[in-house]
Amino acid sequence: MEAQKLREEFINFFKSKNHAQIPSASLVPENDPTVLFTTAGMHPLVPYLLGQKHPMGNRLCDYQKCVRTGDIDEVGDYSHLTFFEMLGNWSLGDYFKKESIAFSYEFLTKHLGFTNDQLAVTAFAGEDNIPRDDETAEIWKSHGLRDDQIFFYGREDNWWGPAGLTGPCGPDTEIFFDNGKPKCSENCGPSCHCGKYTEIWNNVFMQYFKDDKGNFSPLAQKNVDTGMGLERICCITEGKGSVYDTSLFAGIIGKIEEISGKKYEGEYVRDFRIVADHLRAATFILGDGVVPAKIGQGYILRRLIRRASRYMSKLGYDGVFMEKVCQVVIDQYGVNYPELIRERDNICAAITAEEEKFQRTLTKGLRRFNEMIAETNGSTVLDGEQVFRLYDTFGFPVELTAELAAEKGLKVDMEDFQNRFRTHQEKSRAGADQIFKGGLADHSEETTKLHTATHLLNAALRKLIDPDIRQKGSNITAERLRFDFNFDRKLTPEELKAIEDFVNDAIKADIPVVCTEMPIDEAKASGAIGVFDNKYGSIVKVYTIGDISAELCGGPHVTHTGELQGFKIKKEESSAAGVRRIKAVVGKF
Ligand code: ALA
Repeated sequence: MEAQKLREEFINFFKSKNHAQIPSASLVPENDPTVLFTTAGMHPLVPYLLGQKHPMGNRLCDYQKCVRTGDIDEVGDYSHLTFFEMLGNWSLGDYFKKESIAFSYEFLTKHLGFTNDQLAVTAFAGEDNIPRDDETAEIWKSHGLRDDQIFFYGREDNWWGPAGLTGPCGPDTEIFFDNGKPKCSENCGPSCHCGKYTEIWNNVFMQYFKDDKGNFSPLAQKNVDTGMGLERICCITEGKGSVYDTSLFAGIIGKIEEISGKKYEGEYVRDFRIVADHLRAATFILGDGVVPAKIGQGYILRRLIRRASRYMSKLGYDGVFMEKVCQVVIDQYGVNYPELIRERDNICAAITAEEEKFQRTLTKGLRRFNEMIAETNGSTVLDGEQVFRLYDTFGFPVELTAELAAEKGLKVDMEDFQNRFRTHQEKSRAGADQIFKGGLADHSEETTKLHTATHLLNAALRKLIDPDIRQKGSNITAERLRFDFNFDRKLTPEELKAIEDFVNDAIKADIPVVCTEMPIDEAKASGAIGVFDNKYGSIVKVYTIGDISAELCGGPHVTHTGELQGFKIKKEESSAAGVRRIKAVVGKF
């Protein structure tokens, strides 16, 4: 079954089970300082899994764009990807194991045509004071699965989350496709990597919260969080041996064949897959307003683009080409992710600029790299200082240096590099720690204040600078807010001062911040701003601050603007073509 049909079947199925479809959230988790990218469908839903009421109800479904870079070195085999789509359904304190498994079973057998024999499932074996999940096994049996199709595993395999250090989590039941081949050994089962079993769906019974001390406590409500990888299910339903051989990649790989003049076969397969995966991911990341940079999301983006460039050279092509692949990605995915169409020009301009920049430094960097190799005098390790120089002067992502070194039988001193990198970042006060931090959404007091400050800033810009200004991105850490908006020139110091004064006046006036739930049409008619996405369904939350601001938003916010104490703009700069960025802080100044 083709991808688009799968998305539709999935969403329609869950709609028929009273689920509301929510839109795919940005790849950059808004208001979450602790993770770089959205890695699963549950990510934007964390506050609701913890008990906040979701405006769309307690049964939700979606397809969500995700990025995971943990396995980047494995990209190129038959199944690993950095970008993928996750089909998911959620119960926020509504149904639990029985219904969740029944829905999955019905969808797989009635809609995708799987037979019982093609399925194998797992359940949590129990650990410490959390018991073995016999209930799940019994439910699977009630659908006709035999004992020998049900496997129990421990925390390594059958527990999901939290996505970072703290957050909601729980035991899960994973559903596998069994291709019918004989077991590779007596112990062969879904956790075996011989290829007989492919994981297709994960149903997590999210009923615990893991705190920063590693303790698990029961959540106020029992949730279900499921995720099915679109590329994998597509691979199985299309009967292909690899996700890269499905309809999702046909156009992209075809374009790379056309540009490189090479065929996607034999020794080139891995190189093709890496270029295809990385440029698909880069297009989506650029589409969410990230630009190549030295830290954070921008660093991952840079690494993907630079790696794609190097693997394209392996295919014998050294010209500038990436924009052509981006165009294919945008054309193919624009219908599901309209932000790609909106951002088409920015995506293409940014990727070409980065590609050209890298090509200019690559030759010089490679020369320096070869000199370093010659200077190692028989040592098998490149020291951190050399690696850092390649990073800092020639823009070589450390992973690229590590790959080049490995090709010469050398290692790099990662620890030394990381130390130098950290010292450098601390010096430049760039907050690099974020890259290394784990953890889930931090809805602390500080981020809540900054969230409200963001609404005030947005209002000030529209009132004082240009009524056509729109939010293009928002990111909040415990230290500062970052707000991107469309505007085509630098703001003057006077304008920045006027904005600051406007926000500070609002803070002094200690205006109540009021949250109202209302039908989307009413919100629109009231003049509230925000992303009115048709997919977002009927009831939305609008946060109103006096007559200054009314904005569609999930919250949370302070109750009175006075809590912010004061507002200061730290920086105004360009973020991308036609997009400006303001960084600001709140507190007593
Ligand atoms: N959040 C679960 C996963 O990513 C469904 O597998």
